[in-house]
Amino acid sequence: MNAKPQRLENIVTDKGKVPVYATGIVEQPWDDYSAADHDVWRQLYQRQREVLAGRASDEFLRAQDAMGMTPDAIPKFSELNKILEATSGWTLIGVEGLLPELDFFDHLANRRFPVSWWIRRPDQIDYIEEPDLFHDLFGHVPLLMLPVFADYMEAYGRGGVKAHGIGPEALQMLTRLYWYTVEFGLIRQKDGLHIYGSGIVSSKGESIHSLESDAPNRIAFDLERIMRTRYRIDTFQKTYFVIDSYEQLIEATGPDFTPIYARLSALESIPAGEVLATDSVIHRGTGEGWATDGDV
Ligand code: PHE
Ligand code: FE
Repeated sequence: MNAKPQRLENIVTDKGKVPVYATGIVEQPWDDYSAADHDVWRQLYQRQREVLAGRASDEFLRAQDAMGMTPDAIPKFSELNKILEATSGWTLIGVEGLLPELDFFDHLANRRFPVSWWIRRPDQIDYIEEPDLFHDLFGHVPLLMLPVFADYMEAYGRGGVKAHGIGPEALQMLTRLYWYTVEFGLIRQKDGLHIYGSGIVSSKGESIHSLESDAPNRIAFDLERIMRTRYRIDTFQKTYFVIDSYEQLIEATGPDFTPIYARLSALESIPAGEVLATDSVIHRGTGEGWATDGDV
């Protein structure tokens, strides 16, 4: 177990007083969750497990089972940490919300995964803008049990610290990689396409859309192509990138990105919905229902 960061002060939230340790780090105030909070967890957990059967990657579902998450109550980070630390050496830390970029990268580089301690309200079941406990815990944490993905996340954190030192363009390219893999990635198994991205697995609508809709493009993973591709933050993705295995992620992202950043910064970015002649296209999207602007 990593040493707890030094406690700095107490802050008052609408859940009562929460001890704060370092920038945004809090101890999970588990006793303060209301029956309504646990109920939101139960509803979302049950609904997503049903949607994800046969849709999420086998590894994701197996890992989620192995962690002992259940619909009964919001899991305790301290309980999950016992299993996670023994399995892959990752530790969950509670946070108020999004952290400054460099802090976030530093946590990942040290195998600490920040999890929002609060859960969305009942009227936010279908959609919430900010990452809450359900997205973080249900969506991100299971794959941290998988050694190869656990290593990818740590390498990403180190890459983030490095990109932060290089400059905003490098950071933007690295962020696109996170978006199109960790958040919205698809994986090809023997029996077809499955989901592993956390942004998808924590959303009922996008779980179905990403696999079954004709609208979005599904394109084979290509590191440099992804690093140039803009994305959506307010609608379903226009394009999903498909890996063949988690090992492919580690191998493709192993090389030093410094010369890649330098080379790609001279090239134009690619709109979220565009298909290039050089793409290995698995499904060309119809574009039905797409917004005409708003790519990030
Ligand atoms: N190889 C990358 C670099 O040199 C680091 C990295 C690894 C980035 C894995 C993302 C994912 O910056
Ligand atoms: Fe996320």
